[in-house]
Formats: sequence, C-alpha cells, structure tokens
Amino acid sequence: MIKKIELISIIQETKGFLSPQIELEQYCIDAQSAVDIVYFAGAENNDIRNQLVIDLGAGTGRLSIACAYLQAFYILSVDIDINALRVLKTNINTLGLENIIFPICSDVNHFEIERQLFPKNIHITTIENPPFGVQTRTADRYFLQKAFSFSNVVYSIHLANQKVHDFLLTYIKKFDWRIDYVFPFQLKLDKVYEFHTKKTKSVDVNIYKFKRNDE
Ligand SMILES: C[S@@+](CC[C@H](N)C(=O)[O-])C[C@H]1O[C@@H](n2cnc3c(N)ncnc32)[C@H](O)[C@@H]1O
Repeated sequence: MIKKIELISIIQETKGFLSPQIELEQYCIDAQSAVDIVYFAGAENNDIRNQLVIDLGAGTGRLSIACAYLQAFYILSVDIDINALRVLKTNINTLGLENIIFPICSDVNHFEIERQLFPKNIHITTIENPPFGVQTRTADRYFLQKAFSFSNVVYSIHLANQKVHDFLLTYIKKFDWRIDYVFPFQLKLDKVYEFHTKKTKSVDVNIYKFKRNDE
C-alpha cells in the first residue's frame, strides 16, 4: 500500500476549485485530512480495496483520488457542478487514473444506482464530504438519504456538535441504519471566501461510519 506521506504529497499537488460557489459550500479538503479519512476507511476498516466507491459531492476529487491509490475497484465521483468536475477530470488525467475514476455530473437527489444490477459480491462504499447545511439547511441529510439507498457502508463528515449528533441518531433510524463508529477529527480550512478572516482555520468534525442494520 502506498505510504501516507507519498499520498499526501500527490493529493497536495492536485488542482482545487477555480471559482468556488458559496451556495454549494465548495471548499477543498486539505490533503492530510483526505488521506487520513481514506486510510481510516481503507487501511483500518478494509472498505476501499476492491470496492465500488461512490464519492458524493466529489468536487475536485481529492477523496476519490486517495481512494484510487488505496486500490478501489471503481470510483464514481458525483457532483452537481460541471466546473468542479472539469478540474477533477484534469486531476485524474494528470495522474493517469481515468480508467478508475468516473466523473458524473448530477444533483445528488437525482443520482440513482440500481443495486440489483451489480454482482452480489460487490460492496458499495460511499465516502462524502457533504455541505454541512450552512447554506441550505437540509443539504447534508439529502446526501445521507441517497447514500443509504445503495451503499453497504457510508463514511460521512459532519460538524462535531451534540445537536448534529442527536439529529443523526434519530434521522438514520428511519432508514434502518446505525452509527458504527465516530472518529473525532479536525479539518484545516484554507481561506476561500471574502468573509473568512483567517488564512487557515481548524474545524472540529466527526467522521461517521454508518452501517446498515441488517449487516
Ligand atoms: C464541502 S465540498 C467537498 C468537495 C470535495 N469532496 C472535497 O472534500 O474536497 C461539497 C461538494 O458538494 C457539491 N454539492 C453541493 N450540493 C450538491 C448537490 N445537491 N448534488 C451534488 N453535489 C453537490 C459541491 O459542488 C461541492 O463540490
């Protein structure tokens, strides 16, 4: 398996959003966090290698690219913004990953996978750094709802606070899913928008690993 330090430097070199859109909560995950999260899913939980990975809200593709280096079978990188996906395409072409990562331009609400069309032994891992719902209050729940409709396991980043945690506990029960693990984490956000006052800022988040109740 590729060393973390090598993967971080590959991810660091990838291109970010050209003109990030605040209403889509576009920011690029920092390279260290992308690799830590994908290692958590792949190296510690064995949920990336040979799996079909869906990256919901893939943006410029940092999580997708990290999954490719951890030997995912295929990765479908879904985003509503064609300009973000153009950057993602440039990144995957530069790294020669065009046979592993497939960009799909779609609103997450309209993206569908027909589970029955895949061989039974293919597991689907969804990984997502969704909008936290700061701009559109319910954005994060649409991402989860969609991921639960076709995945075996979901890794999702959410703000670390009790209200969010309590909400998630109740919300996921409706879909017959459970929280399998909570990994407290700090994202480093670079200044992206005018209203950001600091050059970088740490944000406390939790990486949630969700599983279906019947697995
Ligand atoms: C916080 S950014 C994360 C980007 C990337 N995954 C990363 O970690 O660097 C959230 C992404 O979700 C996308 N997004 C927002 N709303 C969406 C929707 N309804 N359907 C699909 N993608 C959406 C945005 O365009 C943006 O790229």
